[in-house]
Amino acid sequence: MFTRDIGVDLGTANTLVCLKGKGIIMREPSVVAYDIRNDAVRAVGTEAKEMIGRTPGSIVAVRPLKDGVIADFDVTAAMLKRFIRQALKGSVFSRVRMVICIPAGVTEVESRAVYDAAKQAGATDIDLVEEPMAAAVGAGLPIWDAAGSMVVDVGGGTSEVAVISLGDIVTAQSIRIAGDDFDEAIINYVRKKHNLLIGERTAEQIKIEIGSAKPYENEGDIEIKGRNQVDGLPKNVIITAEEVRSAMADPIAQIIDTIRTTLEKTPPELAADIIDRGITLTGGGALLRGFAELIAENTGMPVSVAPNPLDCVVLGTAKRLEADSGFDHYVFRRGKRFR
Ligand SMILES: Nc1ncnc2c1ncn2[C@@H]1O[C@H](COP(=O)(O)OP(=O)(O)OP(=O)(O)O)[C@@H](O)[C@H]1O
Ligand SMILES: [Mg+2]
Repeated sequence: MFTRDIGVDLGTANTLVCLKGKGIIMREPSVVAYDIRNDAVRAVGTEAKEMIGRTPGSIVAVRPLKDGVIADFDVTAAMLKRFIRQALKGSVFSRVRMVICIPAGVTEVESRAVYDAAKQAGATDIDLVEEPMAAAVGAGLPIWDAAGSMVVDVGGGTSEVAVISLGDIVTAQSIRIAGDDFDEAIINYVRKKHNLLIGERTAEQIKIEIGSAKPYENEGDIEIKGRNQVDGLPKNVIITAEEVRSAMADPIAQIIDTIRTTLEKTPPELAADIIDRGITLTGGGALLRGFAELIAENTGMPVSVAPNPLDCVVLGTAKRLEADSGFDHYVFRRGKRFR
């Protein structure tokens, strides 16, 4: 009666929440602003993200997850608790069942931290599922077929590559290089080349506005504001799409390398399936201009971007909630019961 089923994609960049029967009800940046004098949370999500780099000494705005895993447990737990409270709109449920994702190949300690954070946020039953599996389900791939499907999820902190067949992961590789590293590469480039210090939000804006993995038509440039490293004063600089592309080339190449090595480890029959069915891209990184095309060129496989790539993982958890009735235990294993 008083049970609520919640699916959560606790990501390095964004946290998404869905309710069984209602779909996605929340998409918020994974950011917390809190007062360091008493640890009181001032804001979470979008409101807190606005504060990054703009807080007075007594308040810090932080991203408690790094590289796909929890870096600051207490802050993550506080953030998740807020999000879940908002999702439940103050109603009290005797049971809160939660499906929540973890990157593939994390340690037992890292997945245990996610479990504990979910518990602290009020979940009574918790099911941990691996992100690439959820991404594949959310992207609508036929994971139950006796044929290989390949999904590449490029998030903020991790890029996960997985080949799935018969409802389970056959080969997977995860690297801690993703969208955040593109931003960091832009910060470093602008500092070295233009002596300009910029923050991570500015770098992300540059990436989204003019960034690309390959040259594209009508490339523009962008005026950016930051602080002059030499005299410390505010300064404007114009940078081109080509500069941004060359700045990000290294992390992009590392992700493509990971895709290639995963393909090399894939059994031949399944590799043949992937030639036919192609690679599906999910996660926010899939939205980078020309990324799918560059991957196709470097692997020889057809590559497509899933519809709504930012939503795939949480949609996968929603499918799992629909499929499951009455699970009263949590599992530290792959989401084998996906349907
Ligand atoms: N249009 C865009 N072009 C390029 N990158 C984008 C675009 N939109 C979002 N991103 C990037 O996508 C990343 C966030 O993606 P996503 O929400 O899938 O990550 P996450 O799930 O929070 O992270 P992870 O899965 O690594 O824990 C950020 O680095 C963001 O800058
Ligand atoms: Mg993700």
